[in-house]
Amino acid sequence: MSTSAYKILITEPIPQKTISFLEDFGKVVVGEKGAYQSEDRLIEDISQYHALLCMLSTPVTEQVLKHGDNLEIVANFAVGYDNINVEAAHEMGIKVANTPDVLTEACGDYAMGLLLALSRKFKEAEQYLRDGKFKGWEPLGFLGMELRGRTLGIIGMGRIGQAFANRAKAFGMNIIYHNRTPVDRDIEQQLDATYISDHKELAKKCDVLSLNCPLTDETHHLVDQELLAIMKDHALLVNISRGAVIDEEALAEALHQKAIAGAALDVFEEEPKVHPELLSAPNTLLLPHIASATHKTREAIGQLAAEAIVAVLQGKPNHEIPNLISR
Ligand code: DGY
Repeated sequence: MSTSAYKILITEPIPQKTISFLEDFGKVVVGEKGAYQSEDRLIEDISQYHALLCMLSTPVTEQVLKHGDNLEIVANFAVGYDNINVEAAHEMGIKVANTPDVLTEACGDYAMGLLLALSRKFKEAEQYLRDGKFKGWEPLGFLGMELRGRTLGIIGMGRIGQAFANRAKAFGMNIIYHNRTPVDRDIEQQLDATYISDHKELAKKCDVLSLNCPLTDETHHLVDQELLAIMKDHALLVNISRGAVIDEEALAEALHQKAIAGAALDVFEEEPKVHPELLSAPNTLLLPHIASATHKTREAIGQLAAEAIVAVLQGKPNHEIPNLISR
């Protein structure tokens, strides 16, 4: 097929550089902002396309894939790909790509930023000032948790978990982590990180719990009532992975009852909906899924996803496309 005959759907506006790159290769259609967040519209349209560049909010279900008569590749504009039924795609011979590595540093910075903002009560203190309540320096105002010497427990010590650990170490924190398997010894040494085989044991020990794992059947609602009850009452929770790793109902209750001291959440189980009890919870930072949101990173994400699309449509072998998700 001549390249111009390829049709590529980008489900919503992304950096122009990526769109232009793909336009050199085929006919590109870009959905409007927020488009394709439901299965129905994708099911209607997908049969026309050879490649889909989708967002983490695009539900690429088995039904969608079944309608992809011409579909050769689904490239996610994200590192997490729980929105795609990868198994079904592979069964149908459709390749799937994600965007590892390029967002690691932006996400590491962001997790550290969330922790600093949460532990030092930036949000409440700023609101206090804006409300005209700042009447002079207060020796007992907005006292927070100092990070040096505290223990950060990371669940999911992949690239992003390591990037956060690296920054937290520079702030004098002790690092413990839980993962399916321990990371290489040299990485542990570099981060001064200790492996804890039981995630409940880790939750018991840490002052800050950070979720950096993918959403899978095993990690769904991993942070539940039982785990929250184990945590220290001064502990803080940071989540930049996926909302459904937390049972939000249980978390809201723990926050309202001060069973833990606060949470910084970038992700939610039913984005863009936020559990109403989280909206009213004390010491809670709620952000609209922006961990990778820097100009540089979003351009790099687009480029990596687009390169996988071009490589697949050009018929390159899988081993030459590093960001293809393997079977
Ligand atoms: C991703 O790419 O999966 C992340 O959610 C970015 O924040």
